[in-house]
Formats: sequence, C-alpha cells, structure tokens
Amino acid sequence: MEALFFWVGKGYIKREQFNRNLMMNFKGGDILTTSTLSRGDIDTIMAAAADFMPVADKQKTSSLLADKVLAALFYEPSTRTRLSFETAMLRLGGRVITVVGMESSSLAKGETLYDTARVVENFADVIAMRHPQPGSVREVADAASIPVINAGDGAGEHPTQALLDVFTIIRERKKLEGLTVAMVGDLKYGRTVHSLSYLLSHYGVKLILVSPDLLKMPKEVTDVLKERKIEFTETEDMGEALKHAQVIYSTRVQKERFSDLKEYERFKNYYVLTREQIEKHNGKMTIMHPLPRVGEISMDVDDLPGAAYFRQVKNGVAVRMALLALVLGKV
Ligand code: NCD
Repeated sequence: MEALFFWVGKGYIKREQFNRNLMMNFKGGDILTTSTLSRGDIDTIMAAAADFMPVADKQKTSSLLADKVLAALFYEPSTRTRLSFETAMLRLGGRVITVVGMESSSLAKGETLYDTARVVENFADVIAMRHPQPGSVREVADAASIPVINAGDGAGEHPTQALLDVFTIIRERKKLEGLTVAMVGDLKYGRTVHSLSYLLSHYGVKLILVSPDLLKMPKEVTDVLKERKIEFTETEDMGEALKHAQVIYSTRVQKERFSDLKEYERFKNYYVLTREQIEKHNGKMTIMHPLPRVGEISMDVDDLPGAAYFRQVKNGVAVRMALLALVLGKV
C-alpha cells in the first residue's frame, strides 16, 4: 500500500486523512465486532480491499498468503460467506481446511468451543467461524492463539459482511458522508444490520430503520447510535425509506431465529421491494441486500443500475482478502 492516494470505487481518498491514532493493530488480532473499530481501522480495511480488488476480480494473481492455512469453521448454513472466505484465501495463494455443519464436527460429540479452538490452532494460521450462538466466536477467539474472524454469530454480528457493505456503498455512491441509508426488514435478528450500524456511525449519515415493531433494531445498537450522535428514525413504513434514502439495505426475516414459526409467517413478506416502487420514487437508488433473498426484492429489480447486491458479493472477496492479509500481518 505504497501509493499516497488510493482508489475506492470512483473516488480518491487521501491517505493522510486517516486518523491513524486510534487504529487497532490488526496483526495477530481478531475481527469479532465492528463496534470497536475506529474510523482509521475502517479506512485501513477499505484501502487494503481496494488494493486487492484486481485479484478478487481475477485480473491479477497473488501468492501473498502462500504459506498460510485458513480454517473455515461453519456450524451454521452458509453459501456466500464461506465460499467468499475460501476464495479470498485461495486467490491469495493460501490453503483452506473446512468444517461444515455442527453434525459433522466434534461439537456434536459434546466437545467445547475452548477445546475446538485449542485443536484447530495447531492446523491453521487463521480461523473464520460461523456459529448459531451469539458470543461463541469470541469464546473461540479467547482460547485460540491464532486470529479469529467472526463470520456470523447467531443474531449477534457479522462484521465482514458489514465491511463489504460499506466498501460497496463507497464504490457505488463515491462517498458515504451526507447519505441517507435505510435498513429494512428484520433488524432484530439480522446480524448484518447490527454490524453495519456500528460502521455507519463513523460517517455523517442519516439512518432510517424500517421494521415491524417486534423486529426493531436492538437497544444496544441504537444506544451506540445515540452516543455517537447519529441521526436516525425508526418506522414501520417502507415508504419513508423510498422517499428519503439514497441507499436501501433490505434484509431477510431470519426464520431460523424464531421460536414460533407462526410469527415468522406473519412477517416474512412484510416488505417486498419492487421495480415499480423504486422507479416511482428514485430510479437511481442503490439497492443492497446481504443475500440470500427470499422474496424481499423482486427479480425485476435486478437489472436496475442501482441493484448492487451481486456486486456486493464480488466486493466481499476483496474485503476478506484485506482482512486475512491484515490479521496475518501481510499488509
Ligand atoms: C447473511 C447472514 O448470514 O447473516 N448472509 C450472509 O452472510 N451474506 C444474511 C442472512 O442470512 O439473511
């Protein structure tokens, strides 16, 4: 990262603008939450991700992590996140070992997360882990001597998704400051919006939080928004988002977190974003979704220029390359 200026989407950001004072030391560190990242940390990740974009985009090859092994421990369903981590590692010349599903691991035999961590640290240089229990990834991180990256801990957080979301907004909109961003759907159980809120609180954005009352953003997240003096409104009405936001971030109702499936049925089609609605309000709106979508965005939205959800996927590889390289001390 030698250049004085670097390229983020269509806009240059000056390296000296970074607030390096508050930066975390990534090397050997864990990525568990976005709530403790400073603006300088986020800028560092964005800068590294921008540098890795040609590799993520298959334009360039790299052997930066040639001697490194990633353990991908995925105890909850995943398509994108696991493949994205694995792709990031493989395209940087590294190797991957993987566990998929609780039932195929020793956790099913009753092994503790502590023991799992103490075992896997012997095999790999870095762990990316997903697990249904909030706090579980931190438990592994506390026990393991190698860096651990949270790939989603239940309804807790999903920091790497949120970082790729911020990277995407910057690329799509050139800048984040001054934007109104709406998050729509299951804000209670959706872990990506928790992590994304913490990140967006470092930018001068306004937030519109759209959800049914029972699926509102948790207080621990809105408390941080208040503390950081972020202007936000909470509403049940998606019309507010369509009227005022430049970015709409739609989310899936998290079926797997509901104890009462009848309740899930009540909310699952609460918000459906259609092409007609978007064109009526603002055809240039940026539309995002962490995916998988299960009906929240109708398919005729896909070829609108602002439909960014598949571009998010590509950006995610670059962001995960950046995180892997940072925690392994290679950038
Ligand atoms: C999200 C997740 O797992 O939290 N998916 C993802 O990682 N891209 C969103 C979801 O499952 O709804």
